[in-house]
Amino acid sequence: MPSHSIVLVAGEGTRLRPLTYTIPKPLIPIMGKPLVTRIIDELINNGINDIYIVVGHLGFLFKQTLSDSTNPGIVIRYVEQRERLGIAHAIHRAIEDGAIGELIVHLGDNYFGEGLDRFIREFREGDYDAYVVLTKHRDPTRFGNAVIKDSRIVRLIEKPREPPPNSFVMTGIYMFRDSHDVEKAFNTLKPSARGEYEITDLIQWFIDNGRRVGYSITNSWWKDMGTPQDILDLLYLMLDEVKPRIEGEVRGEVNGRVIVEHGAIIEGRVHGPAYIGKGSMVGKDTVIEHYVDIESNVSINGGSLSRSLVLSDASLELGRARLVDSIIGPKSRVRLSGGNYSLILGEGNSIISTT
Ligand code: G1P
Repeated sequence: MPSHSIVLVAGEGTRLRPLTYTIPKPLIPIMGKPLVTRIIDELINNGINDIYIVVGHLGFLFKQTLSDSTNPGIVIRYVEQRERLGIAHAIHRAIEDGAIGELIVHLGDNYFGEGLDRFIREFREGDYDAYVVLTKHRDPTRFGNAVIKDSRIVRLIEKPREPPPNSFVMTGIYMFRDSHDVEKAFNTLKPSARGEYEITDLIQWFIDNGRRVGYSITNSWWKDMGTPQDILDLLYLMLDEVKPRIEGEVRGEVNGRVIVEHGAIIEGRVHGPAYIGKGSMVGKDTVIEHYVDIESNVSINGGSLSRSLVLSDASLELGRARLVDSIIGPKSRVRLSGGNYSLILGEGNSIISTT
């Protein structure tokens, strides 16, 4: 049976505007790499070499970014999902375009602390028709919920108003033994109240039709990048696992677990965990506090930063100001003299304080 992976990246990321007006959320880099590239790398490490990417919003950017990073022997194909018709429809689109056999489906805005190896192995070893990965979440009403009875999933409910008893949240990885079953299920679906063909309804068909539906509960963290806070949370989790590496030039001071990429120059102070990308410059009066990711070719003078992500080619003149819990879009310009700020900026924005 052939095996394909389907990575879904068509969403508009409305809760991440203005950033997502120009960068789809799976392409927002964290520590030098977009999430979608990390996901594809993990799929490849699990022996999957035929990957369908279902694109929609700003789809051409995926083709540009991923064509630079693919390995020989790996086939990446692009499928358009023109209308926002949901996850089940996106999977159906990929099947229509040739993704057949075993399917490993991964949402492009999801990431698992423990990686994918265990899930893929357990799915295959258990001989399941469909397989999902579950977790606990402080706000289950934002997600699909799976109700468990006698160690089996009995019901899947998309974004319930109240979380049902004995339920877990559904993460964004779904595996199927045979694409024919997925098509059979899809053909019975009707759009939900939000106008989408829901993944919960698709897998409910497997339960209702006596197929074997397995699950695993992740034993590490899981993040879905819906909001700016989700991106920052993911950044903190990833920075927590940073292995220090200094390839750039440190003229100032670096403490704790810090990555300084090639061509970066540190004249000020950097306290880890932190990541300083290629060609970036941290000026002599700047203090990078904890949990900061500076992507490539950023220049920062003065001020301090904490718990923030600064995307490529941004320029920050901070005076005595302190930036906290901020995401600064690529090519943005921030000029401040003092005070505390928490900013979420898109690409090419300017914030200039005249006081
Ligand atoms: C989708 C699924 C939902 C799942 C979530 C995981 O939600 O519909 O069941 O829990 O992804 O990220 P959406 O991102 O469309 O709100």
